[in-house]
Amino acid sequence: MTDDHHQEAQQAEALAAIAQADTLEGLQAVKTKYVGKSGLVTKELGALGKLPPEERKARGAQINAVRQAIDVALTEREVTLKRAALDARLASEAIDVTLPGLPLPAGGLHPINRVYEDLTRIYERLGYAVIEGPEVEDEHHNFEALNVPWYHPARDLQDTFWLEDGRLLRTHTSPMQIRYMVDHEPALKIVVRGKVYRYEATDATHEAMFHQLEGLVVGDGISMADLKGTIAEMARGLYGPSAKVRFQPSYYPFTEPGADFAVWWENPRGESKWLELGGCGMVHPNVFKAVDDLREAEGKPRVYEGKTGFAFGLGPERIAMLKYGIPDIRYFYANDPRVLGQFRGELG
Ligand code: DAH
Repeated sequence: MTDDHHQEAQQAEALAAIAQADTLEGLQAVKTKYVGKSGLVTKELGALGKLPPEERKARGAQINAVRQAIDVALTEREVTLKRAALDARLASEAIDVTLPGLPLPAGGLHPINRVYEDLTRIYERLGYAVIEGPEVEDEHHNFEALNVPWYHPARDLQDTFWLEDGRLLRTHTSPMQIRYMVDHEPALKIVVRGKVYRYEATDATHEAMFHQLEGLVVGDGISMADLKGTIAEMARGLYGPSAKVRFQPSYYPFTEPGADFAVWWENPRGESKWLELGGCGMVHPNVFKAVDDLREAEGKPRVYEGKTGFAFGLGPERIAMLKYGIPDIRYFYANDPRVLGQFRGELG
């Protein structure tokens, strides 16, 4: 075999081995065999020195050409094998993006809090401060200061949970009228949010624990017209610009005169009726006097006698039952996710 043929054959053999190598390890073996430290081609290059000088140059060029061809083929094959290995890995580790995800339980606002949010937004727009207060009260704030003396039949209307220490669970949010006025001077506009408690048998419309929104406005020259305008504004905020409001005389010891208010309710099925929403009235002078007495006992000036104001109280349960078509008040607090889960997602 001439040297030329030998070189050609060796190159062809090496290139075929490279093409056949189907793993990186196999390819490495081919590389070692031909161009490794003691590979066939490397050895031949090393043997060049033994050739007569006149042959050396031509042979050197030949062998180097072979070496180069082998190097190029090795590099290309290596790239191909690496890409194939990567493709195989990607395919085996592929994520099926069409698989349904794992469900994440999402929270939502309780329907009562939704109604509170609606009401709060309306009253904040009108400049009211939104406050809360203690659920454990004393008799004085819950009854006496609100012009409900111990012998008054109104105490029976609001059957009370008494605590062993003589205190009670507040039966309404009205005691916060007293607390707020003792701490602040007029003029003021507040709404109070919170839970109240009545010792009652429960049924579809009565619970032993429920919620109220209490309003109080005190200043100079506040009139019944202001009260009516405020309640009408609330009704429009809840039920739209054409909402109608009705006031009927009623009795609350802490108001004079007192009234009940109702809105004309039209449900999506086209039924309509007056819906009693709550009680209201002008703050009774005895309430202002009780506040000034408490203030005086704390060394604060008497600033309420002679002032005028109105107050109102309503139950968000009633509003939520109609708004969401919930037929039984007990559903709100039974914590059944089949009921409450329907209020997920939509906020406000
Ligand atoms: N506190 C009353 C109740 O629980 C509701 C109420 C009526 C509050 C008239 C008021 C009011 O502020 O003026 O039944």
